[in-house]
Amino acid sequence: MKFRVLLSFSVVAAALTMNPVFAQSAESTKLGDEKYEPRVGQSGKDVIWVPTNDAVADAMLKVAKVKPTDIVYDLGAGDGKIAIAAAKNFGATSFGIEYNKEMAELARRNTERAGVSDKVKIINGDIFVEDFSKATVVTMYLLPDLNLKIRPTILKMAPGTRIVTNSFNMGDWEPDDTIGTGYAQGYFWVVPGNAAGKWILKGMEGSQQQVTLELTQRYQKVGGVLNLYGKSQSILSATLSGNRLKFTFLDHSNQSRIIDVTLNGNEFSGQVLENSALYSITGTRAQ
Ligand SMILES: C[S@@+](CC[C@H](N)C(=O)[O-])C[C@H]1O[C@@H](n2cnc3c(N)ncnc32)[C@H](O)[C@@H]1O
Repeated sequence: MKFRVLLSFSVVAAALTMNPVFAQSAESTKLGDEKYEPRVGQSGKDVIWVPTNDAVADAMLKVAKVKPTDIVYDLGAGDGKIAIAAAKNFGATSFGIEYNKEMAELARRNTERAGVSDKVKIINGDIFVEDFSKATVVTMYLLPDLNLKIRPTILKMAPGTRIVTNSFNMGDWEPDDTIGTGYAQGYFWVVPGNAAGKWILKGMEGSQQQVTLELTQRYQKVGGVLNLYGKSQSILSATLSGNRLKFTFLDHSNQSRIIDVTLNGNEFSGQVLENSALYSITGTRAQ
């Protein structure tokens, strides 16, 4: 982080003064000390302040495919730039959680200057205390150990919630995608649903016997065995994105087919596909 602080210092300082979103305005506001000027590298509760580069912020919001119906939370919001960009450039409703009171006030002033105070709320609080469970997208520029500390909370969020970080990964939870902007590496994850366990399938064509699917799961990585036509086969190319589970199997004539289902608690429903949908299936978790 120290290296990054030095590297980003001049770029960030220039970006802040050149970007109209952050330009000083003469308009009066009751949101704290108008003259407050944060220093890049100033201490924060758990991590110092270093603003995300504009291009990185844009790439982070793009990889998460942020859209107007999204609720974006930036954990450790700094001057509010990611929350502001999510609202201003992507039309989302956004929240920034910032511990430092003066910084939170600055972020609020910046939302007003950017004309998005109706879409952005800055919360002066601790990311380890505030509730951000309603987020559909979470952005973070923290530290590796903080990412790991907040990871259990993130993994309990609704399947399909998108997470993007600037610079730091999440340990053994491998990212679903990465971004490399030339300024910094970024990482993207989708909170996985719970696919693990034994499932009983209904509707599989060509099978008289009970069809079962036994899945093991580590984060979004899924593997398993399909018991079909009285034989067991390993499923292939399995992907789990939120609640969407897809994998390939071989049917009774050794044709490669895709099962594409959406998990809903202890049930799933979806299709068996070739190039297009062939027929519908359902699944129930065996007790
Ligand atoms: C590296 S900066 C990132 C700022 C902003 N997210 C960005 O990308 O430009 C981290 C920010 O987190 C804040 N922070 C540190 N610990 C925090 C905590 N426990 N809760 C809320 N904010 C915190 C710091 O004050 C700082 O503004």
